[in-house]
Amino acid sequence: MKIIRTSIELKSWFNEHNAEKTISLGFVPTMGALHNGHTSLIEKASTECDLVLVSILVNPTQFNEKDDLEAYPRTMKADAVIAEEAGCDVIYAPTAEDLYKGEPKAERVDWGGLTNSFEGESRPGHFDGVIAVVDKLFSTVTPTRAYFGAKDLQQVAVVQKMAEIRHPKVEIVSCKLIRDSKGLALSSRNIRLSDQGVKRALNLYLTLLEVVRKVSKGDSVKIAVEEARQELQASEGIDLEYFTGVNNQTFSNEDEVAKWSHIIVAAKVDGVRLIDNIEL
Ligand code: PAJ
Repeated sequence: MKIIRTSIELKSWFNEHNAEKTISLGFVPTMGALHNGHTSLIEKASTECDLVLVSILVNPTQFNEKDDLEAYPRTMKADAVIAEEAGCDVIYAPTAEDLYKGEPKAERVDWGGLTNSFEGESRPGHFDGVIAVVDKLFSTVTPTRAYFGAKDLQQVAVVQKMAEIRHPKVEIVSCKLIRDSKGLALSSRNIRLSDQGVKRALNLYLTLLEVVRKVSKGDSVKIAVEEARQELQASEGIDLEYFTGVNNQTFSNEDEVAKWSHIIVAAKVDGVRLIDNIEL
C-alpha cells in the first residue's frame, strides 16, 4: 500500500487511478494511532467505495492544550499495517505545513451552539481547527464520501454543516461508535489510562446506559440525566466537564428535553480527556 506525503504526489496518484473520473473515492480522515474505531470506518468505506484513502495528520490547530498535542500518540508504521488490513488503498500523511501551505492556522468559525457549546466551550478553538483541516483535506483529496465516527458526535454535525456550505458534493457518512468488550468507547487516548483509570472511564458508559434504562422504563429523562450527572460529579477520580442531553443536529444548550436525541459526556480520568455518548 502506498504512503503519500505531499499534495502534488496525491494529485498524480488520483489522476492515475481516476483517469476516467468514474471512481468513487471513500475518505477516512484520522490523526493516526489507529484502533478498531478507525478500522470500522475504513471497512465501511471499502464496502461502499471503489478506492479508500485514509489521511493521518495530528492536526495542530485543533489542540487547545500544547501538552495534549505533544502527548498524542504517533504510530505510523503500525497504522499502515492496520489500515491496509482494513481495506485502505492509500495513506495520505502530509506535514501540517504542506497541507496548510505554510504555518498551520485556523480562522474563527461561529455557528452558534454547534461550534460554541460543549466541545466548543470546553476546548476553545477546537472546532475552528477541525473545520480548517477537514476543509483543506476535502479540497486536496476531493472524495466522493467521507466517513466520520459517532464517537465524536458534535464533530459529525460540525463537519456536516461545513460540507453543506463548502463541499456540497461530498457525502458525509456517520458511522456507529465502537466500544471494547466491556463497553469503553475506543479512543487513541485510552492507552494513557492506568488500570484503575480504565475502570473509572468505564463508569462513564455504565452511567449513560443507566439513564437509557431508566428512560425506557418510563422515568423522566431530565431527572434521570440530572441524577446521573450528580453521581458522576461525586465519583472519585472522575473530573466531570459535562453530562447532559442534546439534540445531535443543533447542540444548542437551549433545546428543550423533547428535542434531545443523545446524552453526551466529557470527563478527565487520570488527566486524560474522554468523551462518550449514547442515543436516547
Ligand atoms: P481521530 O480522533 O483520529 O478520529 C478519526 C475518526 O475516527 C473520527 O471520525 C472519529 O470519530 C472516529 N473514531 C474514533 N474513535 C471511534 C470509535 N470508538 N468509534 C467510532 N469511530 C471512532 O476525529 C479526528 O481524528 C480529527 O478530529 C479529524 C476528523 C481527523 C480532523 O483532524
